[in-house]
Amino acid sequence: MKVLGIGGSHRRGNTEDLVKKALETCRQNRLETEYISLAGLRIEYCTDCGACRKAFTCSQKDDVMAVLQKMSDADAIIVGSPTYFGCVSGRLKALFDRTLPLRRQGNMLKDKVGAAIAVGGSRNGGQEHVVQQIHAWMLIQEMTVVGDKKTAHFGGIAVGRNPGDALQDIVGVETVVNTALKVVEALEKQRK
Ligand SMILES: Cc1cc2nc3c(=O)[nH]c(=O)nc-3n(C[C@H](O)[C@H](O)[C@H](O)COP(=O)(O)O)c2cc1C
Repeated sequence: MKVLGIGGSHRRGNTEDLVKKALETCRQNRLETEYISLAGLRIEYCTDCGACRKAFTCSQKDDVMAVLQKMSDADAIIVGSPTYFGCVSGRLKALFDRTLPLRRQGNMLKDKVGAAIAVGGSRNGGQEHVVQQIHAWMLIQEMTVVGDKKTAHFGGIAVGRNPGDALQDIVGVETVVNTALKVVEALEKQRK
């Protein structure tokens, strides 16, 4: 079974480190993984043109449809975001809005396992709110959302400002690993 990790930062820093940590845990538990960084991808905004009502398509010609195809091919999706003014990054929000074709063409993400990771420069900088925004997208896509098991957080939540900082946050990394373990557990239940 395959787990797709998505890093929603504009740079390759803490979010990427944490999502990759989660994917490493998945691989240690015999799952296939793939990582996509949104940094550098062309992601235009949804214009509500309606093209995706008729087919699995989008009128915007950029990098998004390839990401949607990878989402559709995965059994689980782990989405990470930096905390920007208490919210997900604009880049990630633009991607979420562009996932309308997946929903309109038969709820293509239905019952896939979903988990969230957030990192912020402050200890209480809004990471929980970011995790809940990611969960909201997953719930509206009818995914099965999981948290972080025994560390009793809503997902992976870490502190770090400069690239490399978040991997030093031992408690935060533990919540990321436990989130990945919960994804593993949910996929094993689906496999039975
Ligand atoms: C525009 C902007 C807004 C930010 N807002 C917050 C915030 O509200 N709370 C917080 O804890 N950190 C905030 N930060 C810090 C980032 O969340 C932090 O540096 C994070 O590690 C960035 O992740 P990345 O390395 O994956 O890009 C902000 C950073 C930027 C650039």
